[in-house]
Amino acid sequence: MRAYSSHKDIIKLVNKVDSVGLVPTMGSLHEGHLSLIRRALSENEKVIVSIYVNPLQFNSSDDLKKYPRDIKNDLQKLEALSDIIAYVPNDNEMYKKDKKKKKYNFGQFTKIMEGKMRPGHFNGVGTVVEKLLRMFNPTNAYFGEKDFQQLILIKALVREQKLKVNIVGCKTIREDDGLAMSSRNKLLNNTERESAGHIIRLLNKARELYKSSTLEETKRNILKDALMIENLNLEYFEIHDTSDLSGFFEQEKEIRAFIACKVGNIRLIDNVTI
Ligand code: PAF
Repeated sequence: MRAYSSHKDIIKLVNKVDSVGLVPTMGSLHEGHLSLIRRALSENEKVIVSIYVNPLQFNSSDDLKKYPRDIKNDLQKLEALSDIIAYVPNDNEMYKKDKKKKKYNFGQFTKIMEGKMRPGHFNGVGTVVEKLLRMFNPTNAYFGEKDFQQLILIKALVREQKLKVNIVGCKTIREDDGLAMSSRNKLLNNTERESAGHIIRLLNKARELYKSSTLEETKRNILKDALMIENLNLEYFEIHDTSDLSGFFEQEKEIRAFIACKVGNIRLIDNVTI
């Protein structure tokens, strides 16, 4: 593993290789990130892992301040994974003097769920991801399905900007009790962590209910169950036929249940196919 703070040094290393995999992260690496990195290593000649807490995608300065950072530990984890190029820029390297969000128009899909709850968030994600993709021109770039709406957005961005990169969506990696791995999980105290383990139960129950109930009945049931979970405040629970979200899904019809909630003060999201 070698870590660089300037993209120019990395470009020199990768400009002649056959395939480059990019794994964008905000650090505090966990097994979910490591599974993306392992997949990238198995599919590309060189792999770049970026670690950058992107200020443009946070809705509050408090959330940005509290976002977990552990660069020393991150680099140690990458060290154990063989031949990784780590890109660890600061704000100046990433944005120069132009720390502004680009405004994308991805239509209806950005106005629901995360787009609705976190205004401007997807413009911030799009801005940094487009910068990284243009910087390194990777063959493949890897994103987790936990942030499913983000994954779809990035696919749309790549199509719209006519970038030549294959976006690879990777399955959500879960803790033993089913909680989706997330850097934010480490901010939960013990009782909150226990409550967070119920998120997947709500999603699994939605899958069961939806087999024999209407959308409305399923939602009503899940909202009722969510109220019983200590420390958990539901922000939304939604079910979408992803093929209805016109233009954004090339893949076959797929029904997914999406959830966002606060456990204590920590905001968590998850989704499953149902
Ligand atoms: O999913 C994340 O960690 C971030 O949104 C990403 C894609 C690294 C952009 O900052």
